[in-house]
Amino acid sequence: MNDFKNLEPKDNFYQTSLFFPMPVVMIGTLAENGETNLGPYSLVAPYYIAGKGYYAMLLECRNSSNTAQNILRTGKCTINFIPDDKKYFKEAVRMGWPGDTTEEKMKDCLFHLGDGLMAKENPNGSFPKIVEEAFQVIECTWMRELDHAQDDKPGELNGYPEPYHDFNGITSKFGAHFILRIDKILMKEKYYDSIVNGVTAKGYPRVPVDYGYRDSKYFWCSSFKKPRPELLPMRETSVASVRYAADRLQTDVKFTDDALAMLVKVPRIFLPLVLKGCVKWAEENNCKLITPHEMEIINDKRAKEKGKK
Ligand SMILES: Cc1cc2nc3c(=O)[nH]c(=O)nc-3n(C[C@H](O)[C@H](O)[C@H](O)COP(=O)(O)O)c2cc1C
Repeated sequence: MNDFKNLEPKDNFYQTSLFFPMPVVMIGTLAENGETNLGPYSLVAPYYIAGKGYYAMLLECRNSSNTAQNILRTGKCTINFIPDDKKYFKEAVRMGWPGDTTEEKMKDCLFHLGDGLMAKENPNGSFPKIVEEAFQVIECTWMRELDHAQDDKPGELNGYPEPYHDFNGITSKFGAHFILRIDKILMKEKYYDSIVNGVTAKGYPRVPVDYGYRDSKYFWCSSFKKPRPELLPMRETSVASVRYAADRLQTDVKFTDDALAMLVKVPRIFLPLVLKGCVKWAEENNCKLITPHEMEIINDKRAKEKGKK
């Protein structure tokens, strides 16, 4: 503790009071004339990651920005992850000047725009375009009903009056939070292959890291370095301890030892859940004894379900 000083958090604490690594994305939204507006953003993070029926991202932004106003109006946006390249970061910083209109900033924009999958699948709908240079894009819809933000409207550029929402829509005089449902993830082929077939250090996109606005003059960004793998600790428990957990389930379904041996690598905290999943399958399939054969079927089913999502 002696090495640390007490630093008082200030407004925008993630950049005024911390060194906080963040992604660099260009957010595409629909301007009133139908043109796509691009704004650079870093305060984006996964929000609902499982167990909610849909996946969602969170975006924090100034509520008078083109991006916020367009999301309030149309509910649609694209989150475009740009690769590490000096000219792209320079362009992102140029496009981050507050108050520029869509026309002004998009006139000489370096990024190329194209249709995403939502536009292709919904020819009658209106969707912002995607950045062709991005290595991945998320097409999103704002979940305006969350936190009852459905009545938040665009049009106020000098500070919204109270009341404010807690976590979705207009959340303070100048702030907004948007919970954005993931409609599509678009991945460049090389990285799609990495994700589907197994990633190597070469199969990573060049991800830049933004450290935010510092010293009132510069935005700071670090260059991409080849990622290095760190071996996961492989802890195996014994068949006896898996048997102990299996015997505690309220069921007459039984497991053979060699079936339980297939679960020794499952972390102890997940064992009851995994075992219950096996029992559920057995009960649905009139099976009283789970052997390695049934385990294979259950594993295949699980793998297929994961693939589907
Ligand atoms: C790299 C970078 C990241 C930024 N991240 C954010 C952010 O997360 N939230 C925010 O409100 N503004 C952020 N800004 C500032 C906005 O880009 C700025 O308000 C800009 O005017 C928004 O453009 P728009 O009005 O077209 O949406 C960032 C700027 C840069 C250059």
